Amino acid sequence: MKEITLKINYTEYDSVKEMSPEDQELVKAANEAREGSYSPYSNFQVGAALRLADGTIVKGANQENAAYPSGLCAERTVMFWAGANYPDLPFDTMAIAGADKGVLCESPASPCGACRQVMAEYQKKSGRPLKTIWVGEKRIRKFQKVEDILPFIFDSLKV
Ligand code: THU
Repeated sequence: MKEITLKINYTEYDSVKEMSPEDQELVKAANEAREGSYSPYSNFQVGAALRLADGTIVKGANQENAAYPSGLCAERTVMFWAGANYPDLPFDTMAIAGADKGVLCESPASPCGACRQVMAEYQKKSGRPLKTIWVGEKRIRKFQKVEDILPFIFDSLKV
């Protein structure tokens, strides 16, 4: 028997100005992507901007439905769209921004478990780490790979 402690690393920024120009551009795109949110039920707008391996940036936003579970988070909206339209391009980095009634949240956006699992699948498919940037008004967090936000990822191929 042994106790094991996991360690994760991430970078925290006090301002978007501390980030690289590429990351600043992606944060801006995530904030713009919030405009595409259809969220009449929660009034919570989430935007996700995904940079592909060739530098292309694609955007998604949460889409809600009167039958609540039929809606989809911003992160999966953009990943499934990119997966369908650019099946051969690995995902490089995704920035996520959440807003309550149109106002960017103070604390960084935090993707739900189902979206993290989908990120893990695309990371595995491409064979390269998928970085995520969690945007908040007060702080921004950057993670270098999906394992850092989803330890013990479900993988049906593992024995
Ligand atoms: N939502 C996202 O789009 N991404 C997240 O990471 C968390 C939650 C959406 C789902 C729903 O439309 C609204 O935010 C409130 O939960």
